[in-house]
Amino acid sequence: MTILIATSYKPVEWVEHFKTLFPDRNIVTLGEPFDRRSVHYAIVWNQPEGSLSGLPNLAAVFSVGAGIDHITRDSRLPDVPVIRVINPNLTVRMGEYVVLHCLRYLRAVDYFAQCQREKRWASKPGAPYSGDVRVGIMGYGVLGADAGAKLKMIGFNVAGWTRSRHEPVECVALFSGHDGLDAFLARTDILVCLLPLTEETRGILNLELFGKLAKDGVLGGPFLINCGRGHSQVEADIVTALDTGVLQGATLDVFETEPLPQDSPLWEHPKVTITPHVAAFSSREHISKSIAEGIRRIERGELPEGLVDMRRGY
Ligand code: NDP
Ligand code: OXD
Repeated sequence: MTILIATSYKPVEWVEHFKTLFPDRNIVTLGEPFDRRSVHYAIVWNQPEGSLSGLPNLAAVFSVGAGIDHITRDSRLPDVPVIRVINPNLTVRMGEYVVLHCLRYLRAVDYFAQCQREKRWASKPGAPYSGDVRVGIMGYGVLGADAGAKLKMIGFNVAGWTRSRHEPVECVALFSGHDGLDAFLARTDILVCLLPLTEETRGILNLELFGKLAKDGVLGGPFLINCGRGHSQVEADIVTALDTGVLQGATLDVFETEPLPQDSPLWEHPKVTITPHVAAFSSREHISKSIAEGIRRIERGELPEGLVDMRRGY
C-alpha cells in the first residue's frame, strides 16, 4: 500500500515523517517512478494539474493544511474523499497571529516604533480600550472561533460571520449569510478574514465591502487582517482603500499571487504589513501525525476528522 507525497514544497521532508509513521509502507514522491495502481493515499499541497488522476486505487486525498482550494483547483481531481488538517498545532499558531496583529493595532505599535526612530517622546491621544474595539471575524470555523475566544479573553468586543446560522456563542455576536453581512461590517473596527476560498468568497474583500466597515470606531477607522486566502482579496482595492482612508491599515499573510510579485505596490505601502503565508506555519511532525490518524480511521471504517464537504467547497 503506497502513500504518495504530492506537495509542491519540500516533499522529501514529508517522506521522512511518513516513513517513520508507516515503516511498512512504500512512501513515494511525484518526482520518482512508482506503480500508480499501488497508491491508496495522496498527501498533497498544490499538486500539479492532473497528477492525481490515473491512480485507480486512490482512497483519499489529504491536505497538509487546513485549506483545500490548492487541491480542488485541479480540474482532473479524482472523485475521492478530501480531508483537511484540524490540529491544535495549526490552530494555536493562527490564534497567535490574529491576536498579535489586533493588539498591534489596539496599542498603536507602529506609531510608537516610528516615534522611536525619530527619538520622539510622544504619547498617542485617546488610547483606546480593548472593550471598545470591535473585531469582526469573517469565517467563524475552527480557526476563527479559536482566535475569537482568545480575543474575547483579552477584552475585545468580538463578532463572527458564518455561512450558516449557528447556536449563540457566549459573549460573541454571530452574524450569518448575505443578509447578516452588512450589520456585521457596520460594527467592525478590525476585520479579520479566516474564510476558505470558494466561489462565494472569491474577491469578497473589495472596496465596496471596506466601505461598509464602521467609521465611528475608537481606532479612527477600520483595519484589515487577511490570513484566509489571497484570492478572497482584491489587492488593487486594498491599495485604493488605504490611500483614500477607507482603511487605516492592512496586515496580509496571503496574496492573489504567491510569492507576492516584486512589482506589487503592497510591498512598499506604509500602511501594509506583509507576512509570507506563515500565519499558521505548523510543525510537520504534528501535521503528519494528524494525517496518519486520518488514514488509520479510514482503515478502521471510521470517518476521518476534517472530511471536506465538496458541495460546500470547504
Ligand atoms: P472551517 O471550515 O472550520 O471554517 C470556515 C468558516 O468560514 C466557517 O465558519 C464557515 O461558515 C465560514 N464560511 C465559509 N464560506 C462562507 C461564506 N460564503 N459566507 C460566510 N461564511 C463562510 O475552516 P478553518 O477555520 O479551519 O480554516 C479557514 C481557512 O483559513 C482555510 O480554509 C484556509 O483558507 C485559511 N488558512 C490560512 C492559513 C494561513 O497560514 N494563512 C493557515 C490555515 C488556514 P459555516 O460555519 O456556516 O460553515
Ligand atoms: C493552510 C495554510 O491551509 O497554511 O493550512 O494556508
